Amino acid sequence: MKVADSGMPDKVYWDSLFDIVSIVDWLELTGIAGPIVELGCGYGSFTVPIAKKTNAQIYAFDIEPAMLEAAQINAQKEQLSNVHFCLRDIFEQGTGLESNSMAMVLLFNILHFDEKRVMLKEASRILKHGGVVAIIHWRRDIETPRGPATHIRPDKKEILEAVSGLDLHDTGNSKILEPYHWGIQLIKGS
Ligand SMILES: C[S@@+](CC[C@H](N)C(=O)[O-])C[C@H]1O[C@@H](n2cnc3c(N)ncnc32)[C@H](O)[C@@H]1O
Repeated sequence: MKVADSGMPDKVYWDSLFDIVSIVDWLELTGIAGPIVELGCGYGSFTVPIAKKTNAQIYAFDIEPAMLEAAQINAQKEQLSNVHFCLRDIFEQGTGLESNSMAMVLLFNILHFDEKRVMLKEASRILKHGGVVAIIHWRRDIETPRGPATHIRPDKKEILEAVSGLDLHDTGNSKILEPYHWGIQLIKGS
């Protein structure tokens, strides 16, 4: 099942809606040696700069062949060899990755649907103890030029409710990611 309202405008416009450098900095990638996973990678707007900043292996999933192809081309332009693209419906099929094996899972601009716990549960399953789920989404406290309907954008309270019992805990590193987004990081294990 493709997440509703998860279609993409053209890449140049999409990328202009974020301060990508600041968001990648917020991930504090230094010291993350293990694999990183992005669920719903789109054009690779974040996958590619992350792959440039780390030697970690990156697994980038998307349900749309055209998106994956675009992301792959963007990675090739940067001559990256540490990104692996996977065509998959994460909602229906999960990732197929080994349990307790990943250092970081990215859920960027994808959790605006009722069954978000399905993806969060998969993220928790594949993360190692001490691994981190990083989530960003459109703010709902301001007008934004793009993004799903305001009432379906998750806020911090909804994310924390959705991870109840999944052994994912707020790191305290939640913040506004100007101009239009906010983010939260959750660590597996206490
Ligand atoms: C709004 S885009 C965000 C892309 C990227 N995370 C970013 O922030 O630039 C959401 C992406 O999730 C993908 N997607 C939607 N449902 C999915 C599913 N069930 N499994 C895997 N990918 C999915 C869409 O094809 C789309 O590329």
